Amino acid sequence: MSLDTRIKLNNGTAIPCVGFGTYKIKDGNEAYASTKAALENGYVHVDTAAFYENEKYVGNAVKDFLSVSDLKREDLFITSKVWKTEAGYEKTLKAFERTMDEIGLDYLDLYLIHWPSSYAFDDDWENTNRSTWKAMMEIYKSGRVKAIGVSNFLTHHLNALMESEVIPAVDQIEINPGFMQEETVKFCQSNGILVEAWSPLGRGKSLAHPVLEELAAKYGKTVAQIILRWDIQHDIVPLPKSVHEERIIENADVFDFEISDEDMNKIDDMEPYGNSGHSPDE
Ligand SMILES: NC(=O)c1ccc[n+]([C@@H]2O[C@H](COP(=O)([O-])OP(=O)(O)OC[C@H]3O[C@@H](n4cnc5c(N)ncnc54)[C@H](OP(=O)(O)O)[C@@H]3O)[C@@H](O)[C@H]2O)c1
Repeated sequence: MSLDTRIKLNNGTAIPCVGFGTYKIKDGNEAYASTKAALENGYVHVDTAAFYENEKYVGNAVKDFLSVSDLKREDLFITSKVWKTEAGYEKTLKAFERTMDEIGLDYLDLYLIHWPSSYAFDDDWENTNRSTWKAMMEIYKSGRVKAIGVSNFLTHHLNALMESEVIPAVDQIEINPGFMQEETVKFCQSNGILVEAWSPLGRGKSLAHPVLEELAAKYGKTVAQIILRWDIQHDIVPLPKSVHEERIIENADVFDFEISDEDMNKIDDMEPYGNSGHSPDE
């Protein structure tokens, strides 16, 4: 297994098993440099979004990397997302065009609805999600994205899309030890929807947990590596973010060990310590 080991999505597109996250890297130079560092260190999968305001710099890093690399565009996997203010058919189509102008690539590998419309904000949330999804399906059929999916969708949001002509290929949700979202993961994995983990390191919050520190010492790895390996062994694609090259390298060095079933259970059974505070229904 390596960073380029791929998992087949429900439409046949293959997604690399770890992605490089780019949230909160708003500074253009930093977004460019860290994405380029990730690609130069073997990552072939990058996650961005219109909301991150860095699509242009991520796209530039991809193009510059490809101009000197033996790899081709099809060897990379690039994701972006439509932000929640752009929900609905027309707005989503327009948001996609803006994303493509910004990122400057011929196509995306994956395009996601960043957050669902929810009953907390929209009485007609199911229909709003369906009409956003209708635009996503149209974009998919145009061939300019290889797969479409959602993010932060819980089971009830997903249910509104499950009768569609195209079923979401991916649900990108927050997952870290202590916040496992079992119900959504179970629903996705039993319906052929691949789960990606955002904030796999709990934005750093997970890194000082004694259970994980003990396992890190046992396996001779870092806590970050234990968590990312735990995701992979759960068939979940983690998207670690770092602006530091040594951490970018560290987060990719997760293929030379295996966590035992017993230790996987120990992590699964960790006391919940809370999520980032954002629930799609709040
Ligand atoms: N769909 C969504 O709604 C959503 C929401 C949030 C995130 N995401 C995606 O998921 C990606 C990851 O989530 P995230 O950025 O929130 O959090 P994360 O990857 O869990 O954690 C990133 C934080 O951990 C630090 N870090 C990274 N590797 C480390 C290591 N080996 N040792 C110690 N510290 C380390 C980083 O610091 P430095 O950068 O300073 O190294 C940063 O502060 C995002 O970048 C984005 O692509 C999606």
